[in-house]
Amino acid sequence: MKTVTGFASATVGNVACGFDVLGFAITEPGDEVVLTLHADRKSDCPVSITAIEGDGGALPLDPRKNTSSFVVLKLLEYLRTSRGISFDGHIDLVLKKNLPLSSGMGSSAASAAAALIAANELLGSPCTRMELVHFAIEGERVACGSAHADNAAPAILGNFILIRSYHPLDLITIKPPKNLFCSLVHPHTELKTSFARSVLPKTIPLSTATQQWGNVGALISGLLMEDYDLIGRALVDVIAEPKRAPLIPGFYDVKQAALDSGALGCSIAGSGPSVFAFSSSKITAEKVGVAMREAFLHSKAKLLSDMWVSPICSQGARTISSTP
Ligand code: HSE
Repeated sequence: MKTVTGFASATVGNVACGFDVLGFAITEPGDEVVLTLHADRKSDCPVSITAIEGDGGALPLDPRKNTSSFVVLKLLEYLRTSRGISFDGHIDLVLKKNLPLSSGMGSSAASAAAALIAANELLGSPCTRMELVHFAIEGERVACGSAHADNAAPAILGNFILIRSYHPLDLITIKPPKNLFCSLVHPHTELKTSFARSVLPKTIPLSTATQQWGNVGALISGLLMEDYDLIGRALVDVIAEPKRAPLIPGFYDVKQAALDSGALGCSIAGSGPSVFAFSSSKITAEKVGVAMREAFLHSKAKLLSDMWVSPICSQGARTISSTP
């Protein structure tokens, strides 16, 4: 009986202008998945969920419906059909949810990434991290109906990830500037990604697209050149933010509070309701986070919130224990 525990941290998708094509990982918080291999136990479905902690009973225990077990099943199926590696045993899965659900913090991607990194080690590391990203993206489809990669890819690979193409998948890793810090504030309210996607326009005017891709190019340049002012100028989203802001009580006040406290820029984390800001020092990022929390508290909805201040995580998902 072998047990491996995987960990994957929160991620921020979109990064303002990069809807569905840009995301980054922070160092904490994150989800843990504990997998135990029973080599000689047979069953119809090779993965069972034995417990989920920290979700308040909200997540499905059916292994084909839960993101973390679904991606392990996909990995096993791929190994059998594409690599001729058959699996005759059984895997018990325990999911420790530390990330809030429907928060915009890449909660489902973290569960999938933690499960995949643990399963890969349990099976003797047959896949590269890049291969695991494909299964994590399929997990997003199960979680919210859309196979976007801007949380799944950085959850596994760390850093900033730019998705140049989905078909075929072409991911570009961008190392973070060393003084870049993220303040991530999660107000205590839920916003489902599927709903936050339903309010987006199906088409956009050319002039809007022009502004957006100018900012994406500038943001990537700013990250590569470690030009903090340019990063700030490029954190502009003229497509998703205007449509989603009304779904987040006090969003514009929170954003203004971040900018007034010295943030380089601020926008919705993924599909929200969490909000992130970038700063060029840890001290400023702490101050910015506090100001954002206060603004949520003073919004009409008087929202309590949690905050994390973190550099960009370059490590990605990892195993944190393995026995024997
Ligand atoms: N790119 C996705 C969206 C991220 O904005 O819907 C979800 O966290």
